[in-house]
Amino acid sequence: MGLTDCQKNLIRAIAENNISSARKWALACCNEDETYKNSIFVSQYKSILSQPEKKLFELPQNVSGFMCAENVSETFNVRRYYLSERERELSEKITRMATVAAKLKEMKIEYRNSTLLFGESGTGKTTFGRYMAYKFDLPFCYIKFSTLVDSLIGGTSKNIAKAFSFAKSNPCVFMMDELDAVCTNRSDSGSSAAEEMNRVTITIMQELDQLPNDVVLLAATNRIDTIDDAVLRRFSIKHEVKPFDECEKERLLKKFLVDVGVTFSKSEIEKIISESGNQSAIINRAVEKIAEDILCGIDDEEREENA
Ligand SMILES: Nc1ncnc2c1ncn2[C@@H]1O[C@H](COP(=O)(O)OP(=O)(O)O)[C@@H](O)[C@H]1O
Ligand SMILES: [Mg+2]
Repeated sequence: MGLTDCQKNLIRAIAENNISSARKWALACCNEDETYKNSIFVSQYKSILSQPEKKLFELPQNVSGFMCAENVSETFNVRRYYLSERERELSEKITRMATVAAKLKEMKIEYRNSTLLFGESGTGKTTFGRYMAYKFDLPFCYIKFSTLVDSLIGGTSKNIAKAFSFAKSNPCVFMMDELDAVCTNRSDSGSSAAEEMNRVTITIMQELDQLPNDVVLLAATNRIDTIDDAVLRRFSIKHEVKPFDECEKERLLKKFLVDVGVTFSKSEIEKIISESGNQSAIINRAVEKIAEDILCGIDDEEREENA
């Protein structure tokens, strides 16, 4: 059987790199297939292709060197994310604030939706940012200050202003990660690095003051004790992300295991929970154990082949 018109148009659209047209013709291909054997495939892809197209998101060159934008609907695996009760409440608060901010905008009242996450490393602060972007169905725009400072001493404050200017004109969840790399209590040591840090801190405060209502801003730090007080005051919510308790650790681990399709015994689960201090450690221990089990399986197979 030769190609149908729909299939030819689909091939043409792919060859011309025209993704919108390719989606349209792929849907038409599904619609013309009435065979029983393909019915499950067809109905699955018809429903995906009928959804409104996700806007592709590309950063302009002037910010792409130090900021990244992630399409979390593709990169974030929500099936492996365990939302604790505390973080659920926070996410609801941030969502409600977004609604309030939108209403206030109609009344021409400025309102900042800004949240500072703090707590020890590996407790899931950055992951929570991705989750919020996923929940809002918005791109996740992300600056990690520790790398920005390393690579751009001298022009850091200008780059921060550029990043804010981009975030202000594009709906997104904007996260400033590892804030302690720049906004430490302002130093007056007079060195050029200290002067640059002071400029950066002032820029961040000015930008926060001009943040429009519709930007969802998150920041994160492992060292809230070192953050400049005036910067701290500009966050309407300050939320500590704590290491999970035993029960939460177990739920996190089980959620991960279900998604990867692996089973651990009760005693293996208890061992991992008791040996792992926080969220990141749980996942790392689970991955190590899965890797060990795979290795044992390979060794067994080789032994059988050589026997
Ligand atoms: N709530 C969670 N659910 C699932 N995995 C998590 C969670 N919190 C943390 N993790 C795991 O821990 C890793 C490190 O988390 P991350 O967000 O980088 O921590 P932080 O930013 O606080 O240092 C993540 O890549 C993820 O594997
Ligand atoms: Mg982090």
